[in-house]
Amino acid sequence: MNRNPVVPFLLILLMGVGLIFFMSAEGANKEKEGAEGGEGAKTEQKFDAAAFAKDNCTSCHGQNLEGAMGPKLAGTSKPADELKKVIREGKGAMPAHDESVIADKDLDTLVKYLKDGAK
Ligand code: HEC
Repeated sequence: MNRNPVVPFLLILLMGVGLIFFMSAEGANKEKEGAEGGEGAKTEQKFDAAAFAKDNCTSCHGQNLEGAMGPKLAGTSKPADELKKVIREGKGAMPAHDESVIADKDLDTLVKYLKDGAK
């Protein structure tokens, strides 16, 4: 028999390399899936009006936006355009919020959330 003693090592090496490729390809796929899943979930509910309001508005408008130093926002009957204008441009002690703080479509969502009673 004239078997080359290196052959089994080569085979094992190939299997190892193959396995690494397989695993990293799968890992990359999972990552991609994760990212896509994340994006998908994001477009669904990218903007969380309640969380945004909690971070940016409740300090002046009350824990439940029921009104404090700033007027009541929860369930406000003011027209959306008026609310948006005040949020964008500010008014008195009310700070302005430009597009770097909240994008137009998120502002719509936020205003709807306020008008719906902030729930
Ligand atoms: C620094 C305190 C402060 C913060 C923070 C604040 N507001 Fe105000 N807001 C006020 C005050 C004070 C007024 C009343 C302004 C006036 O009429 O002179 C007001 C008025 C408003 C009005 C007009 C309501 C009405 O009935 O006339 C809206 C809408 C509003 N705020 C939304 C928001 C939103 C949404 C946020 C968070 C993104 C926010 N505010 C953050 C203080 C604040």
